[in-house]
Amino acid sequence: MNKEVSELWPELAWIENNDLREKTAKTWELALQRSVLTGDDLKRIPFTLLCGPDLKVTFMDHKRSVVHIAKDAGNTINSMYNGELTVDMDVLISGAILADVGKLLEYELDENGKAVQGTYGKYLRHPFSGVSLAEECGCPPEVCHIIATHAGEGNMVKRTTEAYCVHHADFMTFLPFKERLKV
Ligand SMILES: [Fe+2]
Repeated sequence: MNKEVSELWPELAWIENNDLREKTAKTWELALQRSVLTGDDLKRIPFTLLCGPDLKVTFMDHKRSVVHIAKDAGNTINSMYNGELTVDMDVLISGAILADVGKLLEYELDENGKAVQGTYGKYLRHPFSGVSLAEECGCPPEVCHIIATHAGEGNMVKRTTEAYCVHHADFMTFLPFKERLKV
C-alpha cells in the first residue's frame, strides 16, 4: 500500500482481510494515478460546491465520515438484530471507502487550473467509473455492488444491507447541505 493512500485512508486498517484491504488500497492508488487531483487536493477542496468555496468540510472529511457512520450502523445491526440481519463488516468498509473513488476521474483542469467536471465524468458518473476501477484492481462483486448503488442510480437496484448502510450514511450527510439552498 503506498504512503499517499495509507495517509488519506487510516480506515483501511479496519478491513481485516489482507487481500481485500490491498485491493481496496490499490483501487485508490490507480484512481490517483489517473486523476488530475492529488491526495493533498482532496484534503483541501470542499466536498460539495453547492455551498460555495468556504465550506469547512473537505472532500476527505466527507468521504471518511461516511465510512465511520456506515461502520457504526453495521456494528449496531450486527449486535442488535440477533442474527436476523447481518452485515459483512469488511465488505461494508471496503465499499464505503470506494464509494466515491470514481470521482477522481470526473474532474479535468480548466484553462485556469481549476478542477471542473470533464467529458468522461459527464458520460460516466462516479458509480460507473468507480466500479470500473475497482474491478480492474480485483475487488469482489459484493464491494462493486456498493459502489454501483450508493447514489441515486442505485434506487433502481435491490441493494444489499451493506449498500443500504453506505447509501444512507452518504445521503444523510449530503442532503442537509443541499436543503440549505432551499431556505
Ligand atoms: Fe457518490
